[in-house]
Amino acid sequence: PRETRVKTVKDYIRTIPDFPHEGILFRDVTTLFADPRGLRLAVDQMLHPYAGLRIDKVVGLEARGFILGGAIAHQLSVGFVPVRKKGKLPGPTLGESYTLEYGEAAVEIHEDAIAGGERILLVDDLLATGGTAEAGIKLIERLGGTIMGCAFIIDLPELGGRTRLEGMGMDVHALCE
Ligand code: PRP
Ligand code: ADE
Repeated sequence: PRETRVKTVKDYIRTIPDFPHEGILFRDVTTLFADPRGLRLAVDQMLHPYAGLRIDKVVGLEARGFILGGAIAHQLSVGFVPVRKKGKLPGPTLGESYTLEYGEAAVEIHEDAIAGGERILLVDDLLATGGTAEAGIKLIERLGGTIMGCAFIIDLPELGGRTRLEGMGMDVHALCE
């Protein structure tokens, strides 16, 4: 018989052990993105907490935050701004360095991408240590943006990202742990 239970976001996420390093359980959202119901479910649920609020722009974190952020910005009829890994953006940038679960990195934003007072929704696929999101938050705040919320598909609570972002006064929403 046809499966009648309604699938949740978690049902579409695949776990790959030992990627990119031994001991890491990699939560792979490409299976969610590839499914027509999965992608729509994730985008709709990520927007749910912000219904009725004015959002001026969506900022997405490279790389999977671009896929979600583009869809979310389109749904809101607002613009999309990428936070990219260092060296990728062509115009004048602001940068922030950070450490993550498995390595070190730096990200950049175009310095004219956000105007003072704009109301921003920050989007990424996954919150681990919160280092990437914190770097994105600092860049947005340095440009004078007001962060209305930080939306993720997955929170890995044992890595402390939510606590870290909430400690910065952020409103954090994730669809699953
Ligand atoms: C992953 C994920 C987040 C970040 C979360 O991206 O998509 O952006 O790690 O980790 P954190 O909370 O500890 O900072 P990754 O750094 O693997 O880069 P990619 O999206 O370019 O593959
Ligand atoms: N980024 C940081 N930790 C991760 C994990 N366990 N799965 C997917 N992306 C990640």
